[in-house]
Amino acid sequence: MYEQTVVLVKPDGYAKKVVGNVIGRFEAAGLDLIALKMVRLTQPVLDRWYAHHKDKPFFPDLSAQMMATPVVAMVVGGEGALGKVFAICGPTDPAEALPGTIRRDFGESKPKNVVHRSDSAEAARKEIGLLFAPEELFSPAR
Ligand code: CMP
Repeated sequence: MYEQTVVLVKPDGYAKKVVGNVIGRFEAAGLDLIALKMVRLTQPVLDRWYAHHKDKPFFPDLSAQMMATPVVAMVVGGEGALGKVFAICGPTDPAEALPGTIRRDFGESKPKNVVHRSDSAEAARKEIGLLFAPEELFSPAR
């Protein structure tokens, strides 16, 4: 099934200058770049983005970190895109990620894990709605 999912290069990934490397991994896997922009996240957006984490002790630090600099936000599409992006990013904790995944190669810790990716198709729809207007979504010519 053709799916769309959201990836953010977080402030730690932006500072490490791995934005091009991250995008290149998705393109090398045959995935489509549907949308791409730099955006400064705000607390109201993060409250909705991370609604499932709002009661966690790390939420205030996570919010502050996500607002520290702009992030690079993209929508990535393709057959089975959610699973492919999961595999390319690796799990939340870089220490548990396999070599060759983004989080293992560039991540330092759970908070500084370089990228965010949507957890599910439902989360992707929510995240696309929070960050992108319909006219910002494209599809490559075939
Ligand atoms: P992300 O994919 O953006 O989704 C929620 C984020 O919360 C996650 O990546 C991590 O950066 C962060 N996170 C998850 N668990 C923890 C934790 N136990 N301590 C600190 N940060 C966490």
